[in-house]
Amino acid sequence: MNEKIKKEIAEMLNKAVGLEYAARIQYLAHSEKIKGLNSEPLIERLKEIASDELKHEDMFRSLVTNYLSCDVTTKIETINNADGIKQILEVNLKGEKDAIDYYKQIYKKIIENKESLQYEFETLEHQLRHIIIDEQEHVVEISNLTE
Ligand SMILES: [Fe+2]
Ligand SMILES: [Fe+2]
Repeated sequence: MNEKIKKEIAEMLNKAVGLEYAARIQYLAHSEKIKGLNSEPLIERLKEIASDELKHEDMFRSLVTNYLSCDVTTKIETINNADGIKQILEVNLKGEKDAIDYYKQIYKKIIENKESLQYEFETLEHQLRHIIIDEQEHVVEISNLTE
């Protein structure tokens, strides 16, 4: 495997790990802020999404360490504050869309370097696709909660 390519992809994946750490904590923190009658389904949905982000965190971490043999970051990306249901949904919808944009850049990089990833390509490609599909589902779910 080309060492330079490997490092570049691992670096991008490490930023993705930090985005997932931040997303999970953001969802959990926001879920605690929602109060009032009929708030239970929304709180549950945000917590469900947070648990998906934890799975993504684990997948990205495994790609960095097990497949690319690099060190995984402990750096967390920015957590955005929000108040009230409307703002919480807006902030998280934007976060999901930004994550998709960034993961598509990683996906593109993986596709472009297929030849250098003889024993890693299919796993990297599959996992990135899987995570992007999950984030697209999150976009739909959050959009559906937005009135
Ligand atoms: Fe995620
Ligand atoms: Fe997400």
